[in-house]
Amino acid sequence: MANQPSSDVTHSNDELLREHGQLLERRLGPGATTRLFFSPGRVNLMGAHLDYNGGMVMPSAIDRGSFFAVRPRADRKFRLGTTLDDQWVEGDLDQLPATRSGNWSDYPLGVISFLQAQDAHVCGFDLLLGGNLPIGAGLSSSASICVGVAYVFGELWERGLGEMERIEAALWAEREFIGVHCGIMDPYAISMTRPGHLLILDCKDLSVEHVPLDSSKITIAVADTGVRRELAQGAFNERVAQCAAAFEGLREFDPAATCLRDISAETLEQHGSVLESVVRLRAQHVVDEVQRTLLARAALLDGDLVQFGAQMSAAHVSLRDLYEVSIPELDALVESACHWEGLYGTRLTGAGFGGCTVMAVDTEHCSGLEAHLQEDFERQFGHRPHVEFFRPSPGPREIL
Ligand code: GLA
Repeated sequence: MANQPSSDVTHSNDELLREHGQLLERRLGPGATTRLFFSPGRVNLMGAHLDYNGGMVMPSAIDRGSFFAVRPRADRKFRLGTTLDDQWVEGDLDQLPATRSGNWSDYPLGVISFLQAQDAHVCGFDLLLGGNLPIGAGLSSSASICVGVAYVFGELWERGLGEMERIEAALWAEREFIGVHCGIMDPYAISMTRPGHLLILDCKDLSVEHVPLDSSKITIAVADTGVRRELAQGAFNERVAQCAAAFEGLREFDPAATCLRDISAETLEQHGSVLESVVRLRAQHVVDEVQRTLLARAALLDGDLVQFGAQMSAAHVSLRDLYEVSIPELDALVESACHWEGLYGTRLTGAGFGGCTVMAVDTEHCSGLEAHLQEDFERQFGHRPHVEFFRPSPGPREIL
């Protein structure tokens, strides 16, 4: 991750994308005109693991993301490459893979298969993928790619796709093609955030609010542990299944409930013993996090950043002790940030098991935070975490 002041990032994203386009041309030689697209990552501040339980989440798209350089071909063939290596995945639109390969190309190919199934009369392409978002770090690199690819091909194939159709394509690729039982938060955050705002998404009725974040008062930062867990997908799917089991066990006591988000604290308190002990812990996190997120929303609307941050930090304790998705490196970053004057709140972001913490910091107290976290962390773990400051960013777009 390149660290630079947020104000320079939009400009530098455009510059980096132009270089990205030149790289495609250098690697593949001349062809049709290359078009350039950017799709953001996202950070989630409140509502941890609530999206697949029908709860409310408070994410934002960020000004780091995926880069796409694409050009059409006259035939129906395609070449897909990344900046990670020099390999190209080549194929034909008439013989798209029906199942995943376990490779990075599953993400774009999942979306492309979905879109192509709806309209077979589309042209082949060369696509080079890159970006400035760390992969697998809890900043939703996968949804950034999937939503971005839906945007790119909506434009390249002149399909005029709307936001909801892009979200649908991205979710299909992740859930049906790749097999992660992810919730809806990431593609919504990436598609719908307005610049300078936090998105509040109710994952039950799909209503959205855009709440301004005053950048002179609050700055969003992340610190990356550098830890990536291969088995995180399985552990994530296990949490989804445990929440489903909790709802099945409790729904008869709250007949109006349609998802775990609707189960009241009283019901869990009175009838939680019907659940397996680990399932009960997961349910306790969800029920508490629903309340914390409501409090955080009210605090944000009141301009009470101290109260907002307190809910974030309480969420981390619950993610660590009840949901059990933290690791020592994440806990250490949270602990260290809590000693920083001007910190409103901090917690792990994304699914957990590695990746990043997110911090809400008083804008006047950002300077020095990076060195403080890095020195503390290095003493314990022997390497320095990357620290980045973000701005809420708009969704996918073409760079002209
Ligand atoms: C991952 C999933 C999201 C969400 C978060 C946890 O990022 O993709 O849908 O469940 O974890 O809040």
